Amino acid sequence: MSEWWKEAVVYQIYPRSFYDSNGDGFGDLQGIIKKLDYIKRLGTDVIWLSPVFDSPQDDNGYDISDYRNMYEKFGTNEDMFQLIDEVHQRGMKIIMDLVVNHTSDEHAWFAESRKSKDNPYRDYYFWKDPKSDGSEPNNWGSIFSGSAWTFDEGTGQYYLHYFSKKQPDLNWENEAVRREVYDLMKFWMDKGVDGWRMDVIGSISKHTDFPDYETDNSRSHIVGRYHSNGPRLHEFIQEMNREVLSHYDCMTVGEANGSDIEEAKKYTDAGRQELNMIFTFEHMDIDTEQNSPNGKWQIKPFDVIALKQTMTRWQTGLMNSGWNTLYFENHDQPRVISRWGNDGELRKQCAKAFATVLHGMKGTPFIYQGEEIGMVNSDMPLEMYDDLEIKNAYREVVIENKTMTKEDFRKAAAKKGRDHARTPMQWDAGKHAGFTAGDPWLALNSRYQEINVKESLEDQDSIFYYYQKLIQLRKQYKIMVYGDYQLLLEDDPRIYCYIRKYQGKKLLVVVNLSEDKAQFEAPPELIHERWKILISNYPQEPADLTGMCLAPYEAVMGISI
Ligand code: NOJ
Repeated sequence: MSEWWKEAVVYQIYPRSFYDSNGDGFGDLQGIIKKLDYIKRLGTDVIWLSPVFDSPQDDNGYDISDYRNMYEKFGTNEDMFQLIDEVHQRGMKIIMDLVVNHTSDEHAWFAESRKSKDNPYRDYYFWKDPKSDGSEPNNWGSIFSGSAWTFDEGTGQYYLHYFSKKQPDLNWENEAVRREVYDLMKFWMDKGVDGWRMDVIGSISKHTDFPDYETDNSRSHIVGRYHSNGPRLHEFIQEMNREVLSHYDCMTVGEANGSDIEEAKKYTDAGRQELNMIFTFEHMDIDTEQNSPNGKWQIKPFDVIALKQTMTRWQTGLMNSGWNTLYFENHDQPRVISRWGNDGELRKQCAKAFATVLHGMKGTPFIYQGEEIGMVNSDMPLEMYDDLEIKNAYREVVIENKTMTKEDFRKAAAKKGRDHARTPMQWDAGKHAGFTAGDPWLALNSRYQEINVKESLEDQDSIFYYYQKLIQLRKQYKIMVYGDYQLLLEDDPRIYCYIRKYQGKKLLVVVNLSEDKAQFEAPPELIHERWKILISNYPQEPADLTGMCLAPYEAVMGISI
């Protein structure tokens, strides 16, 4: 099958925050349809829709209670079919979110499963007896804080949930569960869906002996290596590929928590018939102190060298087998310019700089809604966050364990909370940023009058048009898709510089990721080449690409001629 997904650029939509067509303050499918021409104008080829299936919305739809029907506030199945059709009419493709590590506790399977120990659905989930003292079966933690086990009074057993207690984990050991998953995939693919983003797919195979993590007792619940890459992971994915994926010309991207490069190759090496690509997390961890009881909330400053090292490890690690995703933002990550850059005076230059670093690389780029107009983190107070991850973490690390002060947690949440990506899309400077005629489900970002789509479309020099150009360049120059990657100036603390090589040509990417000026001198072998500048983010293009003084967040990309 053709590998069209290698040349594609993906646009991620978080439906509840994208565009509300009926004034209930909540984005919906008809709203997305109304904005398809905007996405088309950007130039992306594929839309990834975060979950729209029926759900109690404990985790904003990542807790599904019915895989074959839409959540009412998003619309109906008819709306979804229309969306698929309208996307296709515009020459784009659409992938959905496959959340099958767990369901909602309100899914009919779980309702049955918890009824009795001999219910036919009991083995759809993991049920275990308490330890002899009544405590949880082991010390595994939930990624949303506390234990991964919840006691169910009805049958006197615990059930497993890697996320909230309303997200019980499915038992993939059970062949009936796997059949159900394959059937629901076929259901949607037969309706025209072009593939899947697979939620925490790295966790579907469990270590079914459920060993305790070794512990020094500083933490009562641990999230670690047993939570991913279980013994039958790749067997399950290969089966899914055989049973479903191989029958469609589709695109697949797995969210592969806990994977290193060796693991990534297993997923994405074409010969193994698994997935096209995976989301990895190592670059998202460069601003986290490792091994802290406060997890991702123990932040440390952004370090350009750490970013270069991590990205380069993945770029070179998957250069000859497998395929990378390229992303800085999604619905679980804050806005990159607020996190690692400058979202004030230098916001526009900075957004373009990070875009250049990412889109010049090898892999399939993902743009998250609002990234293309340089949306920034919200300044909402701690009390106004909606996300259960933040609420649970606050309770655990500030109130119960007291391993962080409220002020430190507030600062960390302001940097890294998931809600920064989830504030409504800013369409214009009018009421509620043109997102809704009603009351938005989550407070708008206070800077919407300055940062919005209308402003971006009216300004020829905007971040939007810069992204548009990067996408066009990727279509025009195959070197951006297929070229080999090589890092230069690895020890430079400000400049991210690399070259791509393909069929005798070179692409040079030079980006100053700092607020200071930075002197750039290319290595001798590049000085003798002649260069054409393809894109840059300051009004005055540099006279010489191989030797220049870069302004703050200046970015330049050129090709050898
Ligand atoms: C990863 C998703 O991206 C995130 O939003 C969700 O909370 C968890 N998986 C659980 O489904």
